[in-house]
Amino acid sequence: MNEADEHKQKFTANLNDIKDSKSLESLRVSALGRKGWVKTLFDQVKKAPPEERKTLAQSLNQLKAFVEQSLEQKQHSIVESELNQQIENDWFDWSMPGVGLPLGALHPLTRIERRCIDVLRLLGFEVAEGPEVETAFHNFDALNIPEHHPARDMQDTFWLENEKLLRSHTSTVQIRVLEEAQSTGRQLPIRVVAPGRVYRNETVDATHLACFHQFEGLWVDKDVRFSHLKGVLSFIVEKIFGQAWEMRFKPKFYPYTEPSLGVDIRLKKTREGAAGQWLTILGAGMVHANVFKNTGFDPSITKGFAFGLGVSRMVTMAHQVESMKSLYETDLRVHHRLG
Ligand code: DAH
Repeated sequence: MNEADEHKQKFTANLNDIKDSKSLESLRVSALGRKGWVKTLFDQVKKAPPEERKTLAQSLNQLKAFVEQSLEQKQHSIVESELNQQIENDWFDWSMPGVGLPLGALHPLTRIERRCIDVLRLLGFEVAEGPEVETAFHNFDALNIPEHHPARDMQDTFWLENEKLLRSHTSTVQIRVLEEAQSTGRQLPIRVVAPGRVYRNETVDATHLACFHQFEGLWVDKDVRFSHLKGVLSFIVEKIFGQAWEMRFKPKFYPYTEPSLGVDIRLKKTREGAAGQWLTILGAGMVHANVFKNTGFDPSITKGFAFGLGVSRMVTMAHQVESMKSLYETDLRVHHRLG
């Protein structure tokens, strides 16, 4: 076998083993490169006896053409298989259903709170605010709850070092609003709502939390009567809870209102089922004379009513959530259920 045949055989064997374009390139260089064996063979033509040169050159040209063709074919098949491999790896089924990103939503408490505000706006109420860190005066004394009063124990809260406390109810805002009306000489009527967080030093269970949401209302004018209070409360309950619920008034005691009442609601009896449990959602009453006195108003000419709604309680009831705590735990199951 001559040298050319040897090279050709080796080249073919190597070519068969090649699977990627990188090794193919080095095989190409080793054959057709400046120092490749094809070049070396051509160099020998010059050294051959003149009468053999022509045939030798012809057969070398054929060999070169064969090498080039073989490399090109291999190149094609490698590109194809590399492409197939890539398609296999990157394969994506465009017909597969997409992964939907869940949309965010307002917290159920915020939604009920906003609904309450919307309903009360219809009656001319505006939103007022008060601090969560309060004085005992605003939380208790001004609301006719003196130091020795048992109501002070019932609303045990968290005391801070500077004799301040975390407000135990939003009724504090009544005092703040009345004080401000005095200092700014604001004209009556006063109609405000005050949503917000309140705190109790409670043992936490399904219906009691150390922090929850309330919603205070206050209407003060020269001639506000108990019938107005009942009318406003009925309006709120009907607008928020709807026709499926019924309400009842019951006598209650609060130091800052006289007379005082509570409102219970329950799901009405339906053809499918019995009526629900009565549950208290708010306390209310005619503003006590002492509250007016404590804020500089003359109770003989100034009248008013106030109410406090348990917003957290309302949410758990309206949506039949067993534990109030879950509203505060970012429990997505609850949030989706209420969504
Ligand atoms: N502050 C009461 C509570 O936390 C609720 C309440 C009762 C508010 C009577 C009032 C009211 O404005 O008049 O339970």
